[in-house]
Amino acid sequence: MCGIVGYVGVNDASDILLEGLKRLEYRGYDSAGVALCTSNCDPIRIFKKKGMIEEGLETSLRGSHTGGVLGIGHTRWATHGAPSDDNAHPHCDCSGEIAVVHNGIIENHRALRGRLEDAGHIFTSEVDTEVIPHLIEEYREGGDDLLQAVQRTVDQLEGAYALAVVDARTPGLMIGVRKDSPLIVGLSDEGNFLASDVPAVLPHTRDIVILEDGDIAVLGEDEVQLYRDSGRVEPEVTHIDWDPMEAKRDGYPHFMLKEIEEQPAAWEATLRERLSGSSISLPEVELDREALDELTQVYLVGCGTSYHAGMAAAPLFERLLQVPVRPVIASEFRYGKQCMDDRTLVILISQSGETADTLACLRSARERACPTIAITNVVGSSMGRECDSVLYTRAGPEISVASTKTYTAQLLLLYMLACELGVRRGDCEGIAGDVLRYLPDMAEMERSLLRDVEEIKRVAGYVSGWEDAFFIGRGLDFAAALEGQLKLKEISYIHAEAYPAGELKHGTLALIEEGVPVIAVNTQDELRGKMASNIEEVRARGAWLALVTDQPDDDEAAEYADMVIPVPSPAPELAPFFVAAVLQLVAYYAAVMRDCPVDRPRNLAKSVTVE
Ligand code: AGP
Repeated sequence: MCGIVGYVGVNDASDILLEGLKRLEYRGYDSAGVALCTSNCDPIRIFKKKGMIEEGLETSLRGSHTGGVLGIGHTRWATHGAPSDDNAHPHCDCSGEIAVVHNGIIENHRALRGRLEDAGHIFTSEVDTEVIPHLIEEYREGGDDLLQAVQRTVDQLEGAYALAVVDARTPGLMIGVRKDSPLIVGLSDEGNFLASDVPAVLPHTRDIVILEDGDIAVLGEDEVQLYRDSGRVEPEVTHIDWDPMEAKRDGYPHFMLKEIEEQPAAWEATLRERLSGSSISLPEVELDREALDELTQVYLVGCGTSYHAGMAAAPLFERLLQVPVRPVIASEFRYGKQCMDDRTLVILISQSGETADTLACLRSARERACPTIAITNVVGSSMGRECDSVLYTRAGPEISVASTKTYTAQLLLLYMLACELGVRRGDCEGIAGDVLRYLPDMAEMERSLLRDVEEIKRVAGYVSGWEDAFFIGRGLDFAAALEGQLKLKEISYIHAEAYPAGELKHGTLALIEEGVPVIAVNTQDELRGKMASNIEEVRARGAWLALVTDQPDDDEAAEYADMVIPVPSPAPELAPFFVAAVLQLVAYYAAVMRDCPVDRPRNLAKSVTVE
């Protein structure tokens, strides 16, 4: 997945494109490029460079006279063709007059390329996207205007694509196309924008048009035409109430630390107008008592951190709905032969709301008439728009690739949903009440936890000196440990694994050697004793042990620990919220101490819109 941005207006396009691309760099950052056009038929100027924007593209742009009131830009996460200057976008036709940037994958690019090369077209990259400008060239030469040529071109394409297209012979005009890949239009008095995501246009406008799959937008300096199903339609404008500053680092060294510290506020926002006393209102979810009594099973579907939120929420759902609740990894689930029907509730969890594997699971659930609920952070995202019901976490924009505040906000919303469905189903044991009564106080508890991180920094200091680390826990603590190991892996490049503590002696214990760091999470009363003996097992093999516990003074495991990190736990079910912050900070400080690019870890990107 990549980030694309476009601008046509009265201002200097190059500055606007650079700023927009930097704000989309979380989507991919192995190479970047822009195409700049003047207001008359001058040749298009292409600048593209391998590497992150600051190091590559910005330097080459700053070095040359740019100018131009129309332009398109791209920041890449390679899928076809390794990161290089040639494979960077934009890609052009043989004449260099048509330029295209693309986010997604053209699945039939080989066949199209073969046909175009046979017709004499010269290709200069290994990238699937390059077939598009050559196809448009064919139709332009056949007499089509730019819109007609683009319409006929997309009819040829198979796969997912968000496109921005410019043509030197059609000055002052830019075309955007969306199919299975996010694309918005930004509207302002100083011009109009195309972008993969909202943060790119926020410095200029909060009025956007969210394009639907199949839409083609034609943008001029002061007009936007929208074509849907080959007919012209009136663009529907959405006003974004995010404060542009939220997408800024505000003096923090990294977005990740800022977003970890924004968790209390994200929880308060996610709770607002949804929880008063111990009653919840989630009117978006239309499952009544009868439908809930019909339910035979529930799937919690997600990838990476979102899957882990499902793991942590599953036990509460099961207790409240009294049917099997399975957290599943979307990339596996989409090809599984599960029995699913209209009595299977499918809950899709996704920060971005655009993750391809999770989206595919949503579509197959809908084909089987399953009721679907999306938990997402991005208003207007595909998952939000395609599900029967959508519940938005209100965590604000999350820029760092490593998800933190959206993970705990997802878990909070999942807990509220479980409680609401439990109450609708007649939760006679008051399980929901036991959880809900503490929710309003959690933000303050988290703030006090985040005020004292010296012990956490010491744990990070020790762990940062190793290439391997282990996380152990039982029950909900194992779910929390899973998320902790992912955070450490993805930003510090330390090889970390999480295990159900009782599983160690069945093999992994062989890896425990003198001094190797083991982080044990122990917050569940009924499992505390079992954990103590598992902790003794690793200790006996010489492990260095950090214990995350809600009972630092009476946890019998504390005597085996080299370091003890206390966490609040108003109720056992709520411990993962606080354990999350501790393990996020261990990963963060370890990555900083190893001088890793915390917000832009190698080989990763914020939302994975390809399979
Ligand atoms: C987590 O830090 C990662 N960014 C990644 O595992 C992420 O959770 C996963 O790609 C799912 O993304 P989504 O929540 O946007 O669907």
